[in-house]
Amino acid sequence: MSTFETSPRETNGEAASAKSAETASGLPGRKGPVEGQGGAGEVPSFTITLKLRRYDPEKDSEPHWEDYQLTMHGTDRVLDALHKVKWEQDGTLTFRRSCAHGVCGSDAMRINGRNRLACKTLLKDLDIKKPIVVEPIKGLPIEKDLIVDMEPFFAAYREVMPFLITKGAEPTRERIQSQADRERFDDTTKCILCAACTSSCPVFWNDGQYFGPAAIVNAHRFIFDTRDQGSDLRLEILNDKEGVWRCRTTFNCSEACPRGIQVTKAIAEVKQALISRKL
Ligand code: SF4
Ligand code: FES
Repeated sequence: MSTFETSPRETNGEAASAKSAETASGLPGRKGPVEGQGGAGEVPSFTITLKLRRYDPEKDSEPHWEDYQLTMHGTDRVLDALHKVKWEQDGTLTFRRSCAHGVCGSDAMRINGRNRLACKTLLKDLDIKKPIVVEPIKGLPIEKDLIVDMEPFFAAYREVMPFLITKGAEPTRERIQSQADRERFDDTTKCILCAACTSSCPVFWNDGQYFGPAAIVNAHRFIFDTRDQGSDLRLEILNDKEGVWRCRTTFNCSEACPRGIQVTKAIAEVKQALISRKL
């Protein structure tokens, strides 16, 4: 968080010294916020309208939209715009974020109708001439503003037993695995549990009982791990009427994944493993 509070372009002293360096040397230096396009080395700024879906369960009977006008910079992300609203206009705005660098998965939200991480979405990559619409991810109960109750999502995750299951005595040395065997499930190790995939899935919207893409991705990560001995158990769980067979291959999940995981492919591989039961 302090990264943003002490951002160099917002630090007046530094901007002033950069400006005086420019004056003294005749060379362009870094300047503070300036509306519009500037010279070399200057971070251009622009005005945006951020349209946020707001909901306070203590005051509102249902969610509503509110607009915020902001001056932002070419290097800013949607998360920076949300911080600016919270810090400068309305401290009650509520959203989750932690790492701010695409690692923790806590700031998945629906931005212009598409699930994305706010910290990985640059404003300049959106159409800033139109309002930027930000709302909570779909299919999970809204708690406040952009925060949803993630418990149903994590309940499905826990149900597929996303941990190594082994039988018999512990080996005296590490469990050996070839590079090719490790490669088999490499893609699904990258999941950060942001829920962007599951909450972009129409089947999940219509039936919250469906395990959802993220749970299947995390089951895949262990089903195809040669060191794991719980695959039959997991496959049986996913053979359930709310398991992999509910997938309609819409590819929404793969498109939504900020880690670039081939989610639909992973689901198809679990389906195939169920059919063949040969891992
Ligand atoms: S598979 Fe991708 S979109 Fe789904 S929870 Fe994991 S990181 Fe997020
Ligand atoms: S804040 Fe951690 S992924 Fe965006």
